[in-house]
Amino acid sequence: MIETEKHIVKAANQVDVFLKSYLKKKPQKNHLYEALKYGLFSGGKKFRSYLIVCSGKIFNLNYRQLIAVGAAVECMHSYSLIHDDLPSMDNDDFRRGKKSTHKVFGEATAILAGNSLLTLAFEILSSSYINIAPKSKVNLIHALASSAGYAGIAGGQFLDLKFEKKKISKNLIIDMQNKKTGELISFCLESIAILANKNTQRRFLKKIGLDIGLLFQITDDLLDLYGDKKKIGKPTRRDKQKGKATIIKSLGVNKTIEYCYYLLDSITDRLEKKYGSRAECLVDSVNFLLKRDH
Ligand code: IPE
Ligand code: IPE
Ligand code: MG
Ligand code: MG
Ligand code: MG
Repeated sequence: MIETEKHIVKAANQVDVFLKSYLKKKPQKNHLYEALKYGLFSGGKKFRSYLIVCSGKIFNLNYRQLIAVGAAVECMHSYSLIHDDLPSMDNDDFRRGKKSTHKVFGEATAILAGNSLLTLAFEILSSSYINIAPKSKVNLIHALASSAGYAGIAGGQFLDLKFEKKKISKNLIIDMQNKKTGELISFCLESIAILANKNTQRRFLKKIGLDIGLLFQITDDLLDLYGDKKKIGKPTRRDKQKGKATIIKSLGVNKTIEYCYYLLDSITDRLEKKYGSRAECLVDSVNFLLKRDH
């Protein structure tokens, strides 16, 4: 395991501890609750949480608070994956090395588990675990809401399905990928400026986050093509089968890899210029994206 991965696992465990203790306090545990837990605790890298923890180091933020924001983001992310696998979307039967939520609990319950996780994200952000000024809290909730809606995950997923089996320009593919994946990842960085009360840095961090999101989605698409399905825990070679619009389809593999290095250099440059060694953890986590095998 590379060093960065060990740090990612550490943050992931802490997010799981937070989520488990949060959910323990909930009343009325039923079949839907089991489905929700299945989708949420089925593994997953929790890379987004690690981005939050690393970005938090720029401003020396409180670790427990970062974990709580990470937990909210992971709820949102797991919701998006449960719905992404549904028959009406990507129709994939495996996720994180196990059967997809709808394969175990049925479609209706999977949809509702996804909905419950989406709202759980906001429940956590609005809870007393996030101890910041009310105005900042509203900003945080507002930013997460925009990253999930029609100009975020939902909008991107809509375009992803609409673009299947069509010839789509690189710019439109980037727009779709920014929405479906980039917006939530950019929230991870923007949230740090909000927590630190550095409103003037929100735009800068959000933009960097979008590029990290794009790099994340492109490496996911490369893993779909070249990855080992046992390692990544989900079916591979599916994008081509489904005619997904990807940067690989638009540019070819070599140019896509060149583009990844261009993004990596540009992200690193901007972060180092602005934050110097304070951005070390974040820069390292972005470098990890090009080394990852899952
Ligand atoms: C997969 O995300 C979906 C994309 C946005 C590409 P992850 O690769 O973060 O999935 P998990 O959480 O580790 O399973
Ligand atoms: C999904 O992209 C992005 C989401 C917002 C869920 P993919 O469809 O490529 O994700 P995987 O490969 O199924 O994880
Ligand atoms: Mg998809
Ligand atoms: Mg998918
Ligand atoms: Mg994929």
